[in-house]
Amino acid sequence: MSNTNVQIFDTTLRDGEQVPGCKLNTEQKLIIAEKLDQLGVDVIEAGFPVSSPGDFKSVEAISKLVKNATVCGLTRSVENDIKVAAEALKYAKKPRIHTGIGTSESHIKYKFRSTQEDIMERAYKAVKYAKSFVEDVEFYAEDAGRTDNEYLARVCEAVIKAGATVLNIPDTTGYCLPSEYGAKIKYLMENVKGIEKAIISCHCHNDLGLATANSIEGVINGARQIECTINGIGERAGNTALEEVVMILRQHPHLNLDTNIKSEMLYGLSQLVSESMGIYTQPNKAIVGANAFAHSSGIHQDGVIKKRETYEIIDPKDVGVTESAIVLTARSGRAALAYRAKKVGYELTKLQLDEVYASFLDFADKKKEISDDDIHQIIEESKVYNELSSQ
Ligand code: KIV
Ligand code: ZN
Repeated sequence: MSNTNVQIFDTTLRDGEQVPGCKLNTEQKLIIAEKLDQLGVDVIEAGFPVSSPGDFKSVEAISKLVKNATVCGLTRSVENDIKVAAEALKYAKKPRIHTGIGTSESHIKYKFRSTQEDIMERAYKAVKYAKSFVEDVEFYAEDAGRTDNEYLARVCEAVIKAGATVLNIPDTTGYCLPSEYGAKIKYLMENVKGIEKAIISCHCHNDLGLATANSIEGVINGARQIECTINGIGERAGNTALEEVVMILRQHPHLNLDTNIKSEMLYGLSQLVSESMGIYTQPNKAIVGANAFAHSSGIHQDGVIKKRETYEIIDPKDVGVTESAIVLTARSGRAALAYRAKKVGYELTKLQLDEVYASFLDFADKKKEISDDDIHQIIEESKVYNELSSQ
């Protein structure tokens, strides 16, 4: 892996699937896993095998199916979880066990009623035990976002000594500001002995709408893996959206960071996940929302028709969207009407356009959006129709 490559760890089927009411069956998970593999993700977190027989079965089936990506199973720092995960992953070409424990003061005090030293020992032992099954072991320090940096660095050192290949630094509660999360990653890069033996992973939740920004700050400061989900789905306000981090890195080549993702598949995958889980994607969702490449104000439409780049930073085809949409509303101008009329077969002169535009505005004031059928009706009922049909 080059130092400019950011690994994409997809957790749609684990953290993403924790959305209430969105449980997938094994069949649906296999379809998504196969597409994720084709998309070029580096790691697929397939589930939490000890959590239920169904999850075990899914992780096992995904392990058998996936050709290229590493397949990963989640565990707590509990021996039986790790043993069960190893069993579920045994057919994977590239298996990874993802084990960990809460490291923040609040998790240690209230969740575990324990001490920092005890937690560190449990973390070390869990990684050591996981290493007896697989070479690739990722450790998560749950609630790292609210964990004291100095203690976090000591935990990271301990698990590297036990053989961890990846250190996951989750902002579990979505609390950090981008500058804080970036500084945390920088601190670990500079202060953890043996850090060159592992890579740091960003796992950011979106409670304050900062998951994507935090993940990007993380990789700018030295992390080389991002954990994310398609459409940003996940617990509460969700996880970092895969399509967002991939396209941010692609749109900012000066960062000199990129992923292996085939971005033209992003829109299709977004649709597949949304349909399989029955979660509708908000229209203004970045990259994959229905309005991400739709223009409805006259000023913008005029610009986009003259040159797409005036109001679009991404070519829709690069993310699998056929073309930009010029939506006709009462805010649209003549340029947009002429453009859409031409698409349905009418080449209007300037005078004809003036004539049709007046009826268009009357029509548009009564309707939210003007369809192709409406354009036909407006033109057919106008004075210019006879001229057009005799041309
Ligand atoms: O958000 C989190 O801390 C997690 C861990 C289990 C990795 O999902
Ligand atoms: Zn999470």
